[in-house]
Order: sequence, then C-alpha cells, then structure tokens
Amino acid sequence: MSLQAPRGTRDILAPESARLRALVDAFATAAELGGYGQVHSPMFEQIEVFQRVGEATDIVSKEMYQFRDPGDRHLALRPELTASLARAFVQHRPALPWKAWYEGPQFRYEKPQAGRFRQFNQVGAELFGSDDPQADVDVIALAWRFCTGLGLGQLRLVVNSLGDRADREAYLAALAAYFEERAGELSAQGRETLSRNPLRLLDSKRPADRAVTSGAPDIEDYWSPAAAEHFAAVLAGLEALGIPFERNPRLVRGLDYYRRTAFELASDALDGAQDAVGGGGRYDGLVADLGGPDVPGVGFALGVDRLLLACDAEGTFPAPPGAAEVFVVDVTGGRQASLLAEELRRAGIRVERAFDGRSMKAQMKAADRSGARWALLVGADELAGGVVSLRRMRGHEAAEAPESVQSRIPRGGVVEELARLLAEGAAEGSGS
Ligand code: HAM
Repeated sequence: MSLQAPRGTRDILAPESARLRALVDAFATAAELGGYGQVHSPMFEQIEVFQRVGEATDIVSKEMYQFRDPGDRHLALRPELTASLARAFVQHRPALPWKAWYEGPQFRYEKPQAGRFRQFNQVGAELFGSDDPQADVDVIALAWRFCTGLGLGQLRLVVNSLGDRADREAYLAALAAYFEERAGELSAQGRETLSRNPLRLLDSKRPADRAVTSGAPDIEDYWSPAAAEHFAAVLAGLEALGIPFERNPRLVRGLDYYRRTAFELASDALDGAQDAVGGGGRYDGLVADLGGPDVPGVGFALGVDRLLLACDAEGTFPAPPGAAEVFVVDVTGGRQASLLAEELRRAGIRVERAFDGRSMKAQMKAADRSGARWALLVGADELAGGVVSLRRMRGHEAAEAPESVQSRIPRGGVVEELARLLAEGAAEGSGS
C-alpha cells in the first residue's frame, strides 16, 4: 500500500495553506489590537500538565497521544493550549494581567469525521490575573470581533455559568444522583460517561440520553450569589457591546477546569454534530492546580479548520491572491528570465517563469495558466535591441485601451514600468 498521511491528519496545500496563514495573521492583528502578546510553547509537555487539569475528561483520559522519550520521560502531544499556558505562567511568572495569544496544531485521538481531525489547528487567547467579569467580556469580544470580521454571519454565541468549585461539586452530586436513578434508561455509552463524568452526559447527542437529560437538575439552581452576580455582569457587558448571545444552562465543556463563565461559538452553516467553531471560559484554580499561585484566568480557542469550513459554507474569506502578477517568457535560453524575475521579485512583484527551455507556445500557455496579468517577452530581437515586450494577458485587457495589448519597453525601465502598471491596476480595483 502506498504511504499516506496518518488517519485524521492531512496535508494542507496552496492555496488553502495561504488561506490558513491569512486567518492566523488576521487573528494576530485582532489579538494584538486587544493587547495580547504571542506565546510559543512546546508541542509536547510532561504528561502531568494535562493530567492534573482533566483526568475525568475524554480529552485527557482517552485521546492523548502519549509516549516515552529515549530518556524515559513520560510526555504527551498537547491536546490543547490552556494547560500549557498555565504551566508557562507558573514557570515564568509574567506581570499581571498576562494577556497571551497563540496558534498552532493540537493533537487528539478522536474518531475522524468532517470537521474533526486528530491533528487540528487552533488560535486562542488567555487572560491571566483578573477575576473581573469585564475580563470575560474582553476575551469573548475578541473571539466575536474576529469571527464576524471573517465575514461569518451565521454564528451563535452560547453562554452559561458553571458556578464556583463548590457550586459545581454540589451540582455534580445532584446530577449523579439524578442519572443513577435513571441509569437503566441511558444508552450503554451514557452509563459509561456517567461513571466518569455526569456533566458530560448533558451534551450527549444520543436520543436515549437526551430523553433523560431533559429532566435533569439545572446548574442555575446551584450558583453561589457571587457566581450569579459575576454571570449577570458578564451578560450585561456583552449587551453593552451589542454582542448577541443565547443562554444555555446545559452548555458544559469538554474540559474540567472551567469555573463560572463557559461559552461556545457555533456556526449554523456547519453540520450540527461538529458545529462548534470555538469555545472557552474561566478557569480560576487551574494555575494553582499546576503548582502556581491562586491566579484566575479566562480565555478561548477557535478551531481554525472548522472556521475555514464555516467560511466555505458562507462563501466568505477566500484564499488571498497567490497568482503571479507577471510571467516572464524567455525564448533565448532562460538566463534573461532568471535576471528579470530576480529583479522584479526584489522589488516585491510576484513573478513566475518557465524552466527547461520550453517553446514560446508552451511558455505562453504556462503564463496563461499562472493567472498573471502581464507577460514579459524576451526573444532574440528584444535581446539585441535592449528591450522587452510587454503584453497584457488574456482576461486582463483594458477595454478602454486595446492598443496597449503589447508594447516594448527599455530593458532598464522594466521594474519601474511594471510597478506603475500594477499599482494602477490595483487602484482601479478592476482586477484587470
Ligand atoms: P475545545 O472546545 O476543546 O477548547 O476546543 C476549541 C475548538 O477547537 C473547538 O470548538 C473546535 O472548533 C476545535 N476542535 C477541537 N477538537 C477538534 C478536532 N478534533 N478537530 C478539529 N477541530 C477541533 C479548548 O481547547 C480550550 N483550551 C479552550 C479554552 C481556552 N478555554 C479557555 N481558554
């Protein structure tokens, strides 16, 4: 059998790769406007970094890629970045508040399907050191501004509060008691989930489980006054910024560290099973669990692959133009193409050329396929005369000036002339 990328992973080729990079660049701009600085952290960590934050979750207990290195260290490929950043915070103790953004691949041994991969990309942001509800609003607003800025219109922000640690424990106990009484009605997988983490049953999509969960206790009834007040302030902050949201008391997250605010961004343009383009919340206590001071935090991560699928479904955020602007056709052996291409590229112009001494016809065909607006032609005549011929490519002719289809320009003025023509074309916005 021929070699293939491992199941659940994929190669991302151009132009999709350029689109992915453009998305990350747009996120960098949005995050840095908000005062978040980028953090690069390792793709693998000591396994305890993740075990300490979520042993009851599938992500940590079942889906981690773990291994021993040749020095017998027990390591895991990161399934997410919040725990890594909390670990980095404990290690470096940056000044508070610490606002960090990140991007990169994550690894989860999940069952692959549309929009779900074993290696996938996230962009995200974390704010450490504030328990102000305005901090929650700050991170949610960043996620919302960025996603809507991509042109996504069919987005829903779903919010909930999971209460404080004690609220959550009391709620978990009530939930466990409720489900245990009805264990017989649950699906087999539902019973298995119950034994590990009753909270996760709330977002089970299996019909048998759903019938039982519909009557389950509500988290709202377990909120401490302080947690309820915090949530009300977050909602008021979102309203003040005109960010629409839905409340869903059944929203639980796939990781254990959340306290108080939890949220998800779902896209109605995606298939229901994998419609979450991002999620996040507050994780007060996480830094302390990793051996640091009791510093609160709040943040989110967005799934880049799913965001791009949502953009496809909504017909927005196309790949940035990658096509050549100029194609050099050289029928004198290729040396001129080499010199011209280098000169133009040094001036920041996207240039393509052909190799292997191909015929004029073959090179013109390649120029056509490249999408270039201009072809520069060098033949024996041009070489002898110290000029190059400049030709507008098909589909890029200017209707008002058909006579400009081909002209000759002095070899020494090529860069200047093309820079002028390309700027003119861009200013017209005509794409011609
Ligand atoms: P998460 O909900 O596990 O949260 O992941 C965030 C997003 O990553 C999901 O909404 C989804 O778009 C994407 N994602 C997750 N798994 C996959 C997959 N297998 N294939 C494709 N995309 C996927 C976190 O990771 C938390 N660290 C978020 C956070 C930051 N909470 C606080 N701060």
